[in-house]
Amino acid sequence: MKKIAIMTAGGDCAGLNSVIKSVVMSAMNKGIKVVGILDGYIGFVEGKYMNLDKHSVYNIETEGGTILGSSNKECPFHYPVDVKNGKYEDKVPSSIEALRKIGVEGMIIVGGDGTLDSARVINEAGMPVIGIPKTIDNDMSGSNPTIGFETAVENAVEAIRKLKTTAFSHRRVMVVEMMGRTSGYLTLYGGFASGADIILLPEQDYNLEVVCNKVNEIMKSGKRYVIIAASEACKEQGKSETVARVLEDSFEQKRYGGIAEKLSRQIEEITGYETRPMVLGHLQRGGEPCVADILLGARLGDYALNLLSDDRSGYIVGAHENVLIKTRFPKIREPRILDIEDNDIARTARDMGICFGV
Ligand code: F6P
Repeated sequence: MKKIAIMTAGGDCAGLNSVIKSVVMSAMNKGIKVVGILDGYIGFVEGKYMNLDKHSVYNIETEGGTILGSSNKECPFHYPVDVKNGKYEDKVPSSIEALRKIGVEGMIIVGGDGTLDSARVINEAGMPVIGIPKTIDNDMSGSNPTIGFETAVENAVEAIRKLKTTAFSHRRVMVVEMMGRTSGYLTLYGGFASGADIILLPEQDYNLEVVCNKVNEIMKSGKRYVIIAASEACKEQGKSETVARVLEDSFEQKRYGGIAEKLSRQIEEITGYETRPMVLGHLQRGGEPCVADILLGARLGDYALNLLSDDRSGYIVGAHENVLIKTRFPKIREPRILDIEDNDIARTARDMGICFGV
């Protein structure tokens, strides 16, 4: 292989630049040129590329986000050509052709479920691809953890620690809304590590009365504040999730939001304690990567490059118990579900008396 392309797509996260750096540096040492595709599948379809060399990746591993840009909507085999009239086209063959014209013989695609599903289609269409999973949600079956998760947990913990000092001063209940879509990993790990008193997850609907009783119990025990870590998609038993918007052309259409606002009003009304919502939002995805994500990103980038340059494609590479693994692109991608009965952080939290709202 003389030339490959690398692309990042889907919601960004910390650690992507470490992947890019390791791919570029390892490729150049093997005499392979690297092209960066800009803004995810937009650049793939519209032919927006940049050449990458050692100078373009100098020191980028410590930066958050992705130097290539990303997009979490466009699907290359159902690409919007005239949105008003609902016209979509399969742009995979023409995009592969355009890459072949500039000498690209293989691709490394870093992304979430939607991105890697399109990566499978590109691989099946004849362009050799290796996929690398990344998401702060940590819910992809190809890797545990996924790139970006550990930094997002650190970001959440840092923010909640700051919140605790103001909650203490004012004797308040704080409801912290955390990202993760329908996966509770980020809320469980971030909530636990920041010392949350109550953790509400999408995997287990909560009982409002239980939550309020716990708030009363904690405040009456002499502790001056309560921290509730609430997943953006958690919901009360018998009620539905709070959806902020629906993006029709997105792989995952729902954007959750509003649970902290709703829950804090209910808690204040029922318990009488002053309660404030706090939405961590995209702060969890931003900022510089922690060391674990720099290491994981670099290891997976290098592994992907070695497979591709060995003419072995059609794999997703990830980590499992710190060992690098490869799995075939699945036809149907199944998310990795957080099993709260079996997960040892959840078990430890329960043993320590942390309330899950049930
Ligand atoms: O999947 C990653 C994620 O950050 C989710 O945790 C969150 O719900 C969603 O993306 C936010 O998407 P957007 O960046 O489109 O608002």
